[in-house]
Amino acid sequence: MAKIEITKTELVWPGKYNDDGTLKEVPRVNLPFQVIETVNESRATREAQKTTSLGLFDVYEGKEGDTFDAGWKNKLIWGDNLLVMGSLLEKFAGKIDLIYIDPPFATGADFSFTAPIGDSGDEVFKEQSVIEEKAYRDTWGNGTASYVTMMNDRLRIIRDLLSNRGTLYVHCDWRVSHLIRGILDDVFGVSGFVNEVAWHYFGFKRKTAKNFPRKHDTILVYAISDDHTWNVQYKPHRTEYVARFKTDKDGRLYRDDVNPTAGGARTIYLDEVPGDIVDSVWDDIPPVNPMGSERWDYPTQKPEALFERIIKASSNPGDLVADFFCGSGTTLAVAEKLGRRWIGCDLGRWGIHVTRKRLLGIKNSKPFEVLNLGKYERQYWQNVTFSDKHGKSVNEQALYEYLAFILKLYGAQPLAGMEQLHGKRGKAMVHIGAVDAPVTIAEIDAAVEECAKLKQSELHVLGWEWEMGLYDLMAEAAKKRGVKLLLLQIPREVMEQQAAAKGDVRFFELAYLEAEITQPKKLTAQVALKDFVIPNTELIPEEVRSKIKKWSDFIDYWAVDWDFRNDTFMQGWVAYRTRKERSLPLISDQHEYDKQGSYRILVKVIDIFGNDTTQAFDVEVR
Ligand SMILES: C[S@@+](CC[C@H](N)C(=O)[O-])C[C@H]1O[C@@H](n2cnc3c(N)ncnc32)[C@H](O)[C@@H]1O
Repeated sequence: MAKIEITKTELVWPGKYNDDGTLKEVPRVNLPFQVIETVNESRATREAQKTTSLGLFDVYEGKEGDTFDAGWKNKLIWGDNLLVMGSLLEKFAGKIDLIYIDPPFATGADFSFTAPIGDSGDEVFKEQSVIEEKAYRDTWGNGTASYVTMMNDRLRIIRDLLSNRGTLYVHCDWRVSHLIRGILDDVFGVSGFVNEVAWHYFGFKRKTAKNFPRKHDTILVYAISDDHTWNVQYKPHRTEYVARFKTDKDGRLYRDDVNPTAGGARTIYLDEVPGDIVDSVWDDIPPVNPMGSERWDYPTQKPEALFERIIKASSNPGDLVADFFCGSGTTLAVAEKLGRRWIGCDLGRWGIHVTRKRLLGIKNSKPFEVLNLGKYERQYWQNVTFSDKHGKSVNEQALYEYLAFILKLYGAQPLAGMEQLHGKRGKAMVHIGAVDAPVTIAEIDAAVEECAKLKQSELHVLGWEWEMGLYDLMAEAAKKRGVKLLLLQIPREVMEQQAAAKGDVRFFELAYLEAEITQPKKLTAQVALKDFVIPNTELIPEEVRSKIKKWSDFIDYWAVDWDFRNDTFMQGWVAYRTRKERSLPLISDQHEYDKQGSYRILVKVIDIFGNDTTQAFDVEVR
C-alpha cells in the first residue's frame, strides 16, 4: 500500500483512502425520477404544464420554475438518499438553501414501533421492514468505519446541493457528534463551522450510576460561505430579566443601565427589546409529547418547534428546504407551514406514508408530488449486481443471473427451454417479470397458455409492477383453463444484499379491492369501497390479525383519481385515519365532471403495512 501523505489535521478511518493513497470517490449516480403520485393539484393545471408522457408513470423532467407561481411542486421521494441525492445533483446542485438531516444514530430503539389499528385504534407493535432495519445494520455493520463512510458519502453530496446562501444542520447525539464534526470540518473546511447547538430536552431524569444523565442532542451547523442566510431568533424574556425592570409613571417597564459600547448611562424600555436572543443552548423546546396532538407514531420524531427555529433562522419564505432522512416529515410539515419550498426523502415505506398523510392534513397545503427511482433503480441494481462472467453479452447474462437469483430467493429451481416459464417450485410453475416493465395481461396470458399446454395446474407470477387492475380477471380466466394462478409482489428488499443473504425476503400475494361506482346525479360519480382482500392472511403476524375485526380495518388510507390517464395517480379525493380520528369513510364524496364522456377512475388503497393496491374502473359519465 502506498504511503498516505497527511497534510492537515483530519479524521481518518479504514476505507477512506484507496490502496494507492488516493481519496476514495463518493459514488454519484444519476438516475431519472418517476412521478408516482400528484397531490393537491388539478388535472387541468398539470395537463397544461406537461410536455410528454412516457408510459405508466411520468418521468420527472425538472422543467418547472423556482417559485410556486412558476409551477414549482414540492417533492417527497421514496428511496435511498445516496442514489436520490446523486440524481438530484443535475437539477439542484447549488440550489438548496437549507438542509436539515437527522440520520439514524441509535442501534436498536428505532427498529419497531406501535401503530393503531382499525376504528378502535388498538395499538399493535409494528416491526420495521427489513429494508429499514437494514439501513441501521448497514450503517453499523462494520462498526464506526461503516457509519463514517455512510455519512461522509452523503455529506459530500449535500455540500454540492447547497446554495451559496445555504446552511446545513446535522442532528446527532453523544454517540456520533465527535465523528460527524470531524467529517464536516473535512467537507466544509473549519471555516464552514457556524454553531454547535445543544438541544436540551427536559423531562424525567433517572439517577445514572457513574455519569451525568445524558439530556441533550447536538445539532452541528455548517455553511458554504459567509453569505449564508441568517435571521436572529428571539424567545420570551426570562422572568429574572423582567424582574429587573421598574414601572415608570406611564406604566412602561424600564431599566437604567450602563451603555456597554458608548459608555455612560442609558434607559432601556422592555417593550423596545425584541426578546431574549436565542443562543446555542436550546432549553425551551420540549421533546414530542407521547400523548400530544403532534405525535405521528414515529419513534424518532422531533418536535415542530425545533424546526420552526431552524427554518426561520436560516431561510426565507420561498427558499428551498430539504431533509434527506425525513422520517415522519416534521421538517417538511414546518417548511410547508412557513411558506418554504421543500424536498424530502426517506427509504422507509412507512415514513413516506406518514409524511404524505401529515402534509395532507395541513390546511391549504400546496401541491406536492411523490417520486421514486422505480425501474431505473432496479435496472441500476441489475447491472451492478449481475455482471458478465460467462462470455455472453452483458444483457443476456445479467438477465439469466437475475432470474436465477429471484428463483433462488423464492425457493424455486430454474427451468430451461421454456418460453414464459422460468422455474418450478414444488408443483407450481414460476414466471418472473422484468425489472423495467410492468407485468402485462398478455404476458400472464402467455404463461397460463404454456402451463395449460404442459398440463401444469399451478402458476406463480412474480412481478415488481403490474398492469392495472387485473387480479380477479386473470385468476378467473386461468381457472377456466385449469390453472390456479397466484400473483406475488417482488419486494424492494430483494435489492438489499444483506437482507437477501439472510433470507429476509418475503413475497406477498397481491391484495385486491372491490368498489362500486355510482352516478348519484347527472355528471357525477361516487365510489363506495366494498371489499379489500389480503389473500394469505396467515402471513400476517397473529397480533395484528387478532385486532382485525372487519376487512376495512386493513385500510389506513384510500384515494380516488377521477380521470386517470395511464400516467401519474392524481389524487382527487382522499380519506385516511389519524391517531385522533380513527373512523374511515368507505364512500367517497361525489365528484362533478365538466362534461359527459368515458372516464377511467383509479382507486388506491394503502393498507396498514404501507403497501398500495390500485384498481381501475371505466365509467361512462352522462
Ligand atoms: C432519526 S429518523 C428521522 C426522524 C425525523 N427527523 C422525524 O422528525 O420524524 C431517521 C430516518 O432516516 C431514514 N433513513 C435511514 N437511512 C436512510 C437512507 N440511506 N436513505 C433514506 N432514508 C434513510 C430512516 O428510515 C428514518 O426514517
